[in-house]
Amino acid sequence: MRLLSLFPSLAAAAALAPRQAQAPIVRAVSAKFLSGDGCPAGSFAQQTTTSGDTIELMFDSYLVSIPPVSASTARERHCRYEVTFEFPTGCTTGTFGNILRGTAKLPGGYKATFDPQYTAGLGSLSGESAQRGVIVGGGKEDVDVWKDYLGEQNLTVMHRTQLENQRNVTYTAGSRVYITAPDEKGEALLAIDAISISVRNVRRC
Ligand SMILES: *[C@@H]1O[C@H](CO)[C@@H](O)[C@H](O)[C@H]1NC(C)=O
Ligand SMILES: *[C@@H]1O[C@H](CO)[C@@H](O)[C@H](O)[C@H]1NC(C)=O
Repeated sequence: MRLLSLFPSLAAAAALAPRQAQAPIVRAVSAKFLSGDGCPAGSFAQQTTTSGDTIELMFDSYLVSIPPVSASTARERHCRYEVTFEFPTGCTTGTFGNILRGTAKLPGGYKATFDPQYTAGLGSLSGESAQRGVIVGGGKEDVDVWKDYLGEQNLTVMHRTQLENQRNVTYTAGSRVYITAPDEKGEALLAIDAISISVRNVRRC
């Protein structure tokens, strides 16, 4: 009898104990290259990081250049790819991030742009419509300087499902790199080495 009388207080204690906040996890599953002159077959690789939330795309020849003197046709390169992330069931929101590594060589007045457009297969992606990374060549002294280029862009991602078979969400990206030149005389280059894509700051909604 004495033991039984303990139960109500145990139940009360359990109710009062802070509920273990379970952080939802969004996991990077895979990437697939679709097409584009910036990422032709065999010129790229992919890996997921040990943290599990990031997928990294690595390129051999995703570059755009303007050779000296001659006008170039290679002022723009494209790459289409898709990345898949696995969400938990329920409503989840987070930051869909895109980090870029590469090198730029830009004479003064030249401008190099990386412009990705992501589309969500399920759920939503929102954020600034201008998700561009832009670098502008400096003064004359910068003409022969190669700069490591690091760009970063964030979007807000949201996914809601109760169905197990809708937890994997595929995002399609069309990304292009291009250089705009003030004249035809310089030599300029933008090379994209890698793009890391992740879903972070994950919360329930
Ligand atoms: C993108 O989000 C990360 C956190 O997830 C933050 O550290 C970074 O400053 C953000 N970058 C931009 C350009 O908003
Ligand atoms: C998501 O896709 C991966 C790879 O195809 C698969 O292993 C995993 O089971 C899928 N997740 C769900 C919830 O279906």
